[in-house]
Amino acid sequence: AVTRTFSIIKPDATKRNLTGAVTKMLEEAGLRVVASKRIQMSKEQAEGFYAVHKERPFFGDLVSFMISGPVVVQVLEGEDAVKRNRDVMGATNPADAAEGTIRKAFAESIEANSVHGSDSEENAAIEIAFFFKPEEIVG
Ligand code: CMP
Repeated sequence: AVTRTFSIIKPDATKRNLTGAVTKMLEEAGLRVVASKRIQMSKEQAEGFYAVHKERPFFGDLVSFMISGPVVVQVLEGEDAVKRNRDVMGATNPADAAEGTIRKAFAESIEANSVHGSDSEENAAIEIAFFFKPEEIVG
């Protein structure tokens, strides 16, 4: 079924002017950008978005990194979008990412790993609603 997922192009990628290159790989994987905006996340926003990781040892560094520069938040649409997006992103740690994936091509470290993608349709709906109003999404 055609579904939606949520994606973030992270500060390490926006800093290196890779917004287009990352988006091209998403599009070539069969995903369509149906909403997109470049934002500077606030500390509160980043903490809220990553609230599920609050107790993890890397939480503070993750929040600092995500507010270290602009990010591009996107809604992606396509056949089985969550899985399709996760496949093209590659493993969280770029050292484990397969050839042809975004993280293999661009990620610098497990933290500066260039992209975020929702891990389930349920979380996709929550994450999309965190950043977008319904009228900002045009399919
Ligand atoms: P993301 O999909 O955005 O969700 C949580 C993020 O935490 C993850 O990608 C990584 O960029 C980041 N992170 C930093 N350190 C770790 C770690 N040791 N294990 C897992 N995720 C980490």
